[in-house]
Amino acid sequence: MPKTKTTALVLAAGKGTRMHSPKAKVLQTLLNEPMLFYVYEALAPIMKDNILTVVGHDAESVAAAFPAMADRFVTQSEQLGTGHALQVAWDAVTKTGATHCLVINGDTPLVTVEALDRLMAAQGCCDLAFMTITPRDTGAFGRVVRDRERRIKAVVEAKDYDFSLHGPVTGEVNAGIYLLKVATVGPLLEKLENTNKSGEYYITDLVGLAVAQGLSVDGVQAGNDISLMGINSPRELIAAETALRARIVDELLDAGVLIHNPGTVIIGPRAEIEPGAEIFGHCEIYGASKVAAGARLGSYNHITDATFASGCVVREFNHIEKAEVGEGATVGPYARLRPGARLEKDARIGNFVEMKKAVLGEGAKASHLTYLGDAEVGAGANIGAGTITCNYDGKNKFTTRIGAGAFIGSNTALVAPVSVGDNALIGAGSTITKDVPDNQTGIARGKQVNLRRNLKKN
Ligand code: UD1
Ligand code: CA
Repeated sequence: MPKTKTTALVLAAGKGTRMHSPKAKVLQTLLNEPMLFYVYEALAPIMKDNILTVVGHDAESVAAAFPAMADRFVTQSEQLGTGHALQVAWDAVTKTGATHCLVINGDTPLVTVEALDRLMAAQGCCDLAFMTITPRDTGAFGRVVRDRERRIKAVVEAKDYDFSLHGPVTGEVNAGIYLLKVATVGPLLEKLENTNKSGEYYITDLVGLAVAQGLSVDGVQAGNDISLMGINSPRELIAAETALRARIVDELLDAGVLIHNPGTVIIGPRAEIEPGAEIFGHCEIYGASKVAAGARLGSYNHITDATFASGCVVREFNHIEKAEVGEGATVGPYARLRPGARLEKDARIGNFVEMKKAVLGEGAKASHLTYLGDAEVGAGANIGAGTITCNYDGKNKFTTRIGAGAFIGSNTALVAPVSVGDNALIGAGSTITKDVPDNQTGIARGKQVNLRRNLKKN
């Protein structure tokens, strides 16, 4: 076989009118990751970084979401159809020196590496190959027309299908993933016309044009494979997200993650959960979260980009984002860990405690009703109920330092910048504005006076 080189081209310029959203369709999310993320993930093992993308609608937002891909974006300023997208990008495709171009609709996020591999196998034999599916509901998919010998004749869009012209439908439709031989299919691009019901240039017309030219054309059949369904509407998006959720949870269960009530557990594609971790539904784990073997996440937790070390216990009802929960640490119930919160080994956070950009040292505790923002708490310190680090003066943020073994009495306000030394003690109800040295007691509250109560007689 002569040497081949394939460049991928992702079509992602459309608005996605049927989504009824101002957002570009390819930025709509499944399990908190944009649709386009999944297409790139499936392409990456085969294409490496040889991936071009046609963008148009809300191109800046698409570029911002995928900065690493953006230098290979091609702009289609007016979206005149999928065929037009290809015409606009063709120069860029040929400049890569590609012999073949794998074109994929950006709204096909469930596509698998295996499906793409099957299409790539057609490289040796065809000028134009495309994936076909036979879904239960053929909806608005382009209809595949074959002749009596089952050879491909054309793809006709649902809107333009005419029974008297194209014959009875077969149920086989176009999945929107094509492999084109650059040398033979490229010249057909200028022959595309927009004389159809949509007034658009269709990539699918290339099929009929190629057949008419006597080129070899093949439809690679994938049967009723939900992973090749395109997403055009909220209902389709949710169907795909539901399928993807089950795929991820099943894979984790098979790998040895203990997932209770798995039908109510949502785990994003970038999360890494080690076999031996235990998770209770309902639960949502998104982004680049990491859960180690031996970590236990109770039910009703919403987690994004957070890491959990072995032996930690996250109890029920917590909101956790960009935080680190160390070995043997305990969280919740009802805690909020905001970005930069870090619990070191065996540290404990209890109910109604909020942490932001704060470290709780080894074995330190904040068990109830506390805000720790821009704070460093030393090992073994005890933070009493109702402690607030006052970190913000309306303009700037300041740090509070609490030493190892310190004891902060309940209802204390620590007005930052301020530090409390090792083994220092703060009397309950204090408003601390000055540093407290090591081993000293700080009390800052009005002295109590008891006055005689005059009970009026009526
Ligand atoms: C397309 C196919 C249809 C196939 C279906 C599979 C055409 C004409 N029809 O229909 O045969 O069954 O996909 O899911 O191609 N896009 C651009 N520029 C444009 C128009 C669209 O980049 O000018 C992009 C969109 O962002 C989208 C993709 O191309 O990612 C497909 O466009 P869409 O409008 O969703 O095509 P379908 O109607 O689904
Ligand atoms: Ca589509």
